[in-house]
Amino acid sequence: MRVSLTINGERHEADCWEGESLLFALREKLGFPGSKNACEQGECGSCSVLYDGTLVCACLVLAAQADGHEVTTVEGLAEGEELHPVQQAFVDAGAVQCGFCTPGLVVATADLLRRSPDPSDDEIREALSGNLCRCTGYAKIFDAVRAAARS
Ligand code: FES
Ligand code: FES
Repeated sequence: MRVSLTINGERHEADCWEGESLLFALREKLGFPGSKNACEQGECGSCSVLYDGTLVCACLVLAAQADGHEVTTVEGLAEGEELHPVQQAFVDAGAVQCGFCTPGLVVATADLLRRSPDPSDDEIREALSGNLCRCTGYAKIFDAVRAAARS
């Protein structure tokens, strides 16, 4: 089926089969490889995107479901060459090692700060509980989230 959706403010179309995930379509057909594919089971959060403004795992949404909807990926957060404050905070705090979890964490953090501009540590923990990082131990990630909240 032909799927038509808005990604980062622009209309895109792709031919998808009925069982294809939004994540697969974004990465393999629509030119948005920023969302990472680690588990494809909704467990790791590396594929996090905003779907009509709600944080979701793109691996758990069918591409067909997304027809007519709006998706924001990590590529849509920066303003041209200027990084989003959350992206900049992750860079400044050294919250990135292999980087595989980073796009999902950045999207989830941007979503958190939109809803709660000055989150407590418990709120941060709760908001990022669906995003797994195998490298950093999370301390630098928390530093980045706190720094982004202050910026
Ligand atoms: S790839 Fe979607 S949650 Fe892991
Ligand atoms: S930086 Fe490697 S998984 Fe998080």
